[in-house]
Amino acid sequence: MPAITVHDKEFIPYITSSQIEEQVKKIAEQINKDYAGKRPLFIAILNGAFMFASDLFKNITIDAEISFIKLASYKGIKSTGKVITAIGLDVDLHQRDVIIVEDIVDTGKTLFHFLPQLEHQQPASLKIASLLHKPDALLHPLKIDYLGFTIPNKFVIGYGLDYDGLGRNIKEIYQLV
Ligand code: IMP
Repeated sequence: MPAITVHDKEFIPYITSSQIEEQVKKIAEQINKDYAGKRPLFIAILNGAFMFASDLFKNITIDAEISFIKLASYKGIKSTGKVITAIGLDVDLHQRDVIIVEDIVDTGKTLFHFLPQLEHQQPASLKIASLLHKPDALLHPLKIDYLGFTIPNKFVIGYGLDYDGLGRNIKEIYQLV
């Protein structure tokens, strides 16, 4: 596969669609096993996770529900750091087995600040599934329970991930040169 240009930057092929497909199936199989007899609630974080969430959910064979949210972050009035709110969270998480579906955990900032809000609703369990993880960029302690690929600290696009709005529709994952 040749290199591609998105906006002003060049990207080279990094993870093929069949590699992605294989990993997504493995994660789904593990979840099917781990949650057998339960009815997990997947919460996919938009926009980036839509493609991963869709392919993952198609491979879930146990009873399961899915809901989509968007996260909006703003600075708190006091210097308590970022406040993150969920838009579209319309399901009661109390006593539910919740699996957060993310495209990528980079610094971990987003989930680190957001998870306590979900825990506040007292779910029975709360796990994280992420397609990608850049451990070298991680700034906040975060346990990823279901992971597709560990990648170096380089910007990637494709399979739902964008560079300034573009690249989400690419079937493979490309890496910034
Ligand atoms: P974090 O809060 O730093 O973990 O960032 C998480 C979010 O940043 C992800 O859900 C992505 O939307 C975005 N992001 C982080 N790294 C990349 C990347 O390499 N490509 C595209 N988006 C990224």
